[in-house]
Amino acid sequence: MTDRVAEEVGRQYDRLTEDLAVFMGDDLQQGYSAHLGYWDTPESRATFQEAMDRLTDLMTERLRIGPGSRLLDVGCGAGAPAARIALRTGAEVTGVSVSQEQIALADALARTLSLTDRLSFSRADAMRLPYPDASFDAVLALESMQHMPDRAQVLREMRRVVRPGGRIVLTDFYDRLPPVPVAPESMHATTLSPDDYPPLLRSLDLRLVELLDITAETVPRSLACLAEVAQGLDLDLDAAAGLGYYIVVATAHRSPADGPGARGAA
Ligand SMILES: C[S@@+](CC[C@H](N)C(=O)[O-])C[C@H]1O[C@@H](n2cnc3c(N)ncnc32)[C@H](O)[C@@H]1O
Repeated sequence: MTDRVAEEVGRQYDRLTEDLAVFMGDDLQQGYSAHLGYWDTPESRATFQEAMDRLTDLMTERLRIGPGSRLLDVGCGAGAPAARIALRTGAEVTGVSVSQEQIALADALARTLSLTDRLSFSRADAMRLPYPDASFDAVLALESMQHMPDRAQVLREMRRVVRPGGRIVLTDFYDRLPPVPVAPESMHATTLSPDDYPPLLRSLDLRLVELLDITAETVPRSLACLAEVAQGLDLDLDAAAGLGYYIVVATAHRSPADGPGARGAA
């Protein structure tokens, strides 16, 4: 891995994972999700954990995978979403993260769940994925796009490794309010307006299937839940209050020669 930003983001997630170990104790061994929660209605009484799982499940529905399918989870964190997807779909899931500490936790989780035959993790940079062309049925990026120094390059790599017709399902952030300046030591993260996705996907020969703004269901309540953790971990959430959040679903164009040929669920 040679990209400077990827190296730095990896180091920051290593540190965050070590801090979480102190904060969470033994619970950390069960893996953890590091994304926003989704509450279906303002009245929903779901806990933060349940709401995070709900977002994982909303993404999973969009992947259209099943037993025998192969999924790549780009920016897999400590592996909890990948494990949940493997258990619920029967698919084979491969996760990549730039943080070695996260990969160690994710590997441990796969062993604990006796899923090592179809749940595996590697330290790798999404900008240069170490997989052959068309080796996955679908690709997921659950809250990792904001860390990518070059979204076009990552999408190009996703398109290369997914089979023709396979789905790419991701979340991304935009600035709903004018951005607040962040401290120089903050984690590298950028936003992209949802309006910029359709032309970006078109330029890469990807077809937009869905673009869904989920800010109201995710950002306000997640930030309220995170406030307590943020205090313990000395994280600054001020800049996050003005963020918007959305899901993008795209497919890699299918060439006429490809035929139906999908493994697992349609
Ligand atoms: C907010 S966390 C989300 C983790 C996980 N998807 C989840 O929902 O729990 C962002 C993840 O993106 C990963 N990441 C950031 N930049 C990356 C890159 N260039 N290549 C691969 N992973 C990257 C980080 O290591 C981290 O695991």
